[in-house]
Amino acid sequence: MIPEEKVREIAERLSIVEVVSDYVPLRRAGGNFLGLCPFHAEKTPSFNVNPAREIFHCFGCGEGGNAFSFIMKIEGVSFPEAVKLLARKAGIEIEERQLTPTEKKTQDEHVQFLRINELTTSYYRSVLLNGQEGEAARQYLAKRTVDTDISEAYHLGFAPDRWDGLAKHLQNNGVDLNIAAKLGIIRKSDSGWHDLLRNRLIFPIRDARGQVIAFAGRVLDGSLPKYINSPESPLYHKSSVLFGLNMALPSIRTGGSVIIVEGYFDHLALYRAGVENVVATCGTALTSTHAGQIKRHAERVYTLFDSDNAGKKATIRSMELFLEQRIPAYVISLPPGDDPDSFLGTHSAAEFVAIRDKARPAFEYFVRSLLAETPPDSVDNKVRIIDDIVPRFRKIADSVERDLYEKEICRLLGITVHSFRKRMQGGGFAHNKDAATSQSIILQPGDNVQDTLLALLLNYPDARAEIVRNGLDNIFSDDYLELAGLILDRLDGSEDSRTLSHMAETFAKPEHKILFSRIMVSDGYLDDIEWRDVLNQCTRSNERKQLGSIKEIAARLAVLDTNCDEYTLLLKQADTLRTRKSKL
Ligand code: CTP
Ligand code: MN
Repeated sequence: MIPEEKVREIAERLSIVEVVSDYVPLRRAGGNFLGLCPFHAEKTPSFNVNPAREIFHCFGCGEGGNAFSFIMKIEGVSFPEAVKLLARKAGIEIEERQLTPTEKKTQDEHVQFLRINELTTSYYRSVLLNGQEGEAARQYLAKRTVDTDISEAYHLGFAPDRWDGLAKHLQNNGVDLNIAAKLGIIRKSDSGWHDLLRNRLIFPIRDARGQVIAFAGRVLDGSLPKYINSPESPLYHKSSVLFGLNMALPSIRTGGSVIIVEGYFDHLALYRAGVENVVATCGTALTSTHAGQIKRHAERVYTLFDSDNAGKKATIRSMELFLEQRIPAYVISLPPGDDPDSFLGTHSAAEFVAIRDKARPAFEYFVRSLLAETPPDSVDNKVRIIDDIVPRFRKIADSVERDLYEKEICRLLGITVHSFRKRMQGGGFAHNKDAATSQSIILQPGDNVQDTLLALLLNYPDARAEIVRNGLDNIFSDDYLELAGLILDRLDGSEDSRTLSHMAETFAKPEHKILFSRIMVSDGYLDDIEWRDVLNQCTRSNERKQLGSIKEIAARLAVLDTNCDEYTLLLKQADTLRTRKSKL
């Protein structure tokens, strides 16, 4: 363990500009330094480094963080490794801190866990390869044309049809069975220890480094459940594990893209066909943690899910995750009824590649499947479709892409771009613009009120106090509300700029990290302002936005002076709401 003081000392000794400059040529631009982002391909610089905050952020791909996370990302190393690397650069020597007894115990247990999983893998493997007990499994694999090379590449095994084969094997190797039980692979009952997986073909599940962290077992016949996975454990968190990532990494690095499939056998079939940049989820829907992992390794992602309804839902849900993380996503569609395994049973790898090359952008797939479900042949349907599209459309990061989709959506729906944009702004509520022009303070162009409010919260302790008094949830919504809560929690009275530069690292959700670092490098315009004016202006604009329905607007109109600006504005909004349907 590296002591916390050392990490601080290194951070103080090195400026982030100095660190980043070793990799990216930077030039000064106002309070920031600017360069071409090393994490995605771009021709005009959108990679910002803010020396005062010791933080970087790319407006193109959303990547951001401090000097340590920069090194982790660009060198592909862990946090302790990044610290060591920067320590060398700063000329600081690191002696690792002695572990506390609890840390020592956790570490020892971790070593035992890995040993137990190794023993378990080789036990299942030897049952599969040798002797009578593995015969049925060998026949099964032969039937599915899994040869010995592939079987070896996946470390496939077989759990014999016995109650305690594994438990006995572990015991004979001196394993503390209570520790093995924490991995869920054996269990204790009144009649003694017994195995979780029996009479099943075994897929060891490995992490990105290839260490076995869990096991999945498939029946050899049609009985149910088809798969049993070992449960969540200190080693295995299924919402973050991508099966096959360790095998796929070299090819993901060369080609830049990754294909996500649903099944272990789908993974196997593609790998066998020479398509190696593939990962599978382990019997769960894709999560934002998965998407974050993918973003760390790939520039582009393909989903390859079943063409049934469940598969379609999964495809669209995953599209949202990828839009949020700004990872370009494409959908591979196999012929109806096929999965990769069945497809490659009757087609060549070249035929698969040809289909992959025809993959459609995920957003286009989404719009098309929406239209297939709900034909845009009535005003009601059009409103429904647009309301489904709008929240997702907002997440498209690339402006060229937005333009193209906007045109395409309007063409498909037979509406004007003007009415689509109106709808995008919430039925004609142009709250941002009004807020900015009705006051002398000009907000950043394209800036959003919630961004500004969050920037106030970070920069002005008095504004922060005021915001807390008004109630966070009266001011922020969605991700902003969550992030504001986290920021208050982290600040907790401390005004240290270092706290800020390290803060991004403490957020678990990638969307919070992105939002935070974006605001940190772009709030320079708030340097010389009266925070109270800006806060008032923002809260008023927020309030207006919240007056969603005509009824609410009417109630407000009743108490307003008919001569004031707000009265005119609200009248207009009420009108827009009323005529919305007829305009479509
Ligand atoms: N799965 C699971 N538990 C089940 C069924 C499925 O965890 N009872 C997960 C497994 O990760 C499986 C994936 O969902 O790999 C996809 O299911 P399916 O297509 O049925 O499995 P395949 O691995 O493709 O197996 P096969 O080709 O042998 O049917
Ligand atoms: Mn399958």
